[in-house]
Amino acid sequence: MSLIELKDNLSDVKSTMLGALNQAGNDKRSAFRYIILNTISEGIPNTRYVVLRKFKTDSQELFIFTDYRSNKIREIKENPFASVLAYDQQNKCQIKLKGKINIHHQDEIADDLWDSVEDGQESYNTKSQPGKKVDSLNDAHQMKNDYDDKYFAVLIMKVSKAEILQLKGDGHIRAFLDFESDESSYLVP
Ligand SMILES: Cc1cc2nc3c(=O)[nH]c(=O)nc-3n(C[C@H](O)[C@H](O)[C@H](O)COP(=O)(O)O)c2cc1C
Repeated sequence: MSLIELKDNLSDVKSTMLGALNQAGNDKRSAFRYIILNTISEGIPNTRYVVLRKFKTDSQELFIFTDYRSNKIREIKENPFASVLAYDQQNKCQIKLKGKINIHHQDEIADDLWDSVEDGQESYNTKSQPGKKVDSLNDAHQMKNDYDDKYFAVLIMKVSKAEILQLKGDGHIRAFLDFESDESSYLVP
């Protein structure tokens, strides 16, 4: 199975890619639901899986939820440019995104989206900050007495460039999309 076909033109490639990312925001079983977020930590690439919570096709904005105390926040404050990688194994399709991240914490956007966090509130309510060294797992699992949105943060990545690679037995398809200049091109895979 493939997401992109040889008969597709670059406009089809763009809408298929944006549609697949949008679906990942709405469907927990989507192949692009879990994405790899790459940031820069003191000049060295740092990486981790996160959940794609929402993707706006018209503005190419990708939403991620995180703990405001986590390392990635410090890294993004230092360098807001990041990349995202995702792979749909069933359809053999890789998507790579580049863009700039804005952090939303204790603002209207974070307030609105906190209402959609039902089961996962504990992710943002550990007693100590994520990544802190502790003496035991018991210490690691200490939670705040009352759960609130004090440390809930929303990362919005404004995607400026994307690359898609569709693996195919009869010829891989690789394409580049620039949302800022509205240019696109096929690439040698
Ligand atoms: C499948 C999966 C999904 C994850 N989703 C998120 C997420 O949506 N947000 C998040 O902050 N961390 C998520 N994590 C944890 C991160 O990978 C990471 O361990 C954590 O955010 C700390 O990262 P940092 O120290 O680089 O900030 C997820 C991990 C896995 C394995």
